[in-house]
Amino acid sequence: MKKFIEVSDVTDIQALINKGLAYKQHPLMDKALGANKRVGLLFLNPSLRTRLSTQVAAQNLGMDAIVFNVDKEGWALEFAEGAIMNGITVEHVKDAAPILGQYFDILCIRTFPDLLNRDEDYAEKIINQFIKYAGVPVVSLESATLHPLQSLTDLMTIQESIAATGLVKKPKVVLTWAPHVKALPQCVANSFAQWVTAANFADVVVTHPAGYELSEKYTKGATITHDQAAALKDADFVYVKNWSSYEDYGKVFCTDPAWMLTANSLKHSNNAKVMHCLPVRRNVELSDEILDSPSSLVTKQAGNRVWAAQAVLSTLLTSNQ
Ligand code: CP
Repeated sequence: MKKFIEVSDVTDIQALINKGLAYKQHPLMDKALGANKRVGLLFLNPSLRTRLSTQVAAQNLGMDAIVFNVDKEGWALEFAEGAIMNGITVEHVKDAAPILGQYFDILCIRTFPDLLNRDEDYAEKIINQFIKYAGVPVVSLESATLHPLQSLTDLMTIQESIAATGLVKKPKVVLTWAPHVKALPQCVANSFAQWVTAANFADVVVTHPAGYELSEKYTKGATITHDQAAALKDADFVYVKNWSSYEDYGKVFCTDPAWMLTANSLKHSNNAKVMHCLPVRRNVELSDEILDSPSSLVTKQAGNRVWAAQAVLSTLLTSNQ
């Protein structure tokens, strides 16, 4: 593995899931692997879980992890080819990225979309320029369109739960849209759909109001429905997430509170476990009664972020030996 941006970067998804779950059992088993190696964590946007779990993962592997909040502490970066830099940007990525590549063995980057221009966001201009110019493996800490560390964690959490509960049938996994107070990117939903369909161990259903269709590139292999109640029937796992429109890019049409997931929504499910990447807007996306109940996997999910990051970092370290 030379980079970790999307599921196609991974040669064996199940092996990576297993590796993460093994680190959960034995966090320090590869403590020597990252000795004298350094990972740079660049944040162009805020984070709690991704930032801290990746730092802990790096430390478990014996790596130094240095966080750089580019949005607050760095020079304003320019990404446009041929830009005449007489405005607010101070440094071009083609100058900055090769320098970062000399400081770090692995470079991890978080960069959100602006939700204004779909073509620009979906071209992943920012993270692709770091890949192009850094000269070291690049890990997405969430990009304009995808959140692969979250998705790897989500699959680990589902498989861990299946092992714990002894579910024998093929699980039904439902990704449901939920209301929110602002327009959010599609990246967590895109990424979850992409990974869970690629891993091919579940029946996958995506449900949302009309107008919130995700790109077919990510939902291929899933059943799509606007009927949330039908989608949730017999569900084993329900992943709750808001996203803005892909077609009418970045727009919000529906804030119908009936789409919030409550205990009542799950009454015909198979005692479904509920997931969310966090942060969550309580009683907007998901009700307190769910989040505070044994059905909720959200805390376990967030805890598993460490082991997913550790699996990815260690794979990159051994791929480059
Ligand atoms: N789920 C997730 O990525 O959380 P943070 O934004 O806090 O990193």
